[in-house]
Amino acid sequence: MKTSLTIAVSKGRIFKDALPLLEGAGIVPIDDPETSRKLILDTNRDDVKLVLIRASDVPTYVDYGAADIGIAGKDVLMEYEGDGIYELLDLKIAQCKLMVAGPINATEGSANGLRVATKYVNSARRYFANQGKQAELIKLYGSMELAPLVGLADRIVDVVDTGNTLKANGLVPLEHIADISSRLIVNKASMKMKHAMVKRFIDSVAQTVAQRNS
Ligand code: ATP
Ligand code: PRP
Repeated sequence: MKTSLTIAVSKGRIFKDALPLLEGAGIVPIDDPETSRKLILDTNRDDVKLVLIRASDVPTYVDYGAADIGIAGKDVLMEYEGDGIYELLDLKIAQCKLMVAGPINATEGSANGLRVATKYVNSARRYFANQGKQAELIKLYGSMELAPLVGLADRIVDVVDTGNTLKANGLVPLEHIADISSRLIVNKASMKMKHAMVKRFIDSVAQTVAQRNS
């Protein structure tokens, strides 16, 4: 039987930035995810399909082998607790920073006993513990910037790129937690069972990434 590959990717900025990398590996989706409602996209290759899922679900699909390969932000991978995936390649796309942010008048580094709203509870917990700071974490699923404005939290932990969202809401970046970019992840079993095909794919993506960043 012919080996096939399923690649998990999220709609939006990651998909847009991943397209040239996939193209470099000879993979072009047939449907346009922005207009199609399909969740499984055929490609020009009958042995490769793309599955479109939420960014934070990509590691789960790959961990359980529902997808062989995935493209996920480092922020999402830092939160993920499963151990069935290898993180093999920094794609250098969707680059941003995971940061602590707060109101303009917040004193930097005085996060003791603060309430922190975030969807990145694991990363935030680790960060504040490493800093020896006490923080009560409030789990949110989006629009973190609102939390300090309405008194839900003193600080937020979120990804920051241009800083425009923070600025528009009267917030400033206070502490840098990690540099973020998207990574290529591979299911551990697929790495073994489909080694030749997976390796060929990774090598050609790596080549395109290197060319684009040279
Ligand atoms: P979900 O739909 O699962 O809640 P999401 O809304 O964060 O996830 P996207 O906004 O598509 O999904 O972001 C995907 C990834 O892109 C994030 O995991 C992060 O790594 C990166 N990212 C998020 N915001 C930015 C940004 N403003 N600039 C650059 N990269 C970003
Ligand atoms: C992300 C993040 C911030 C914003 C930061 O939101 O949650 O709100 O980008 O980017 P900036 O520093 O350039 O303003 P996104 O645009 O992905 O919206 P969403 O999380 O609601 O999908």
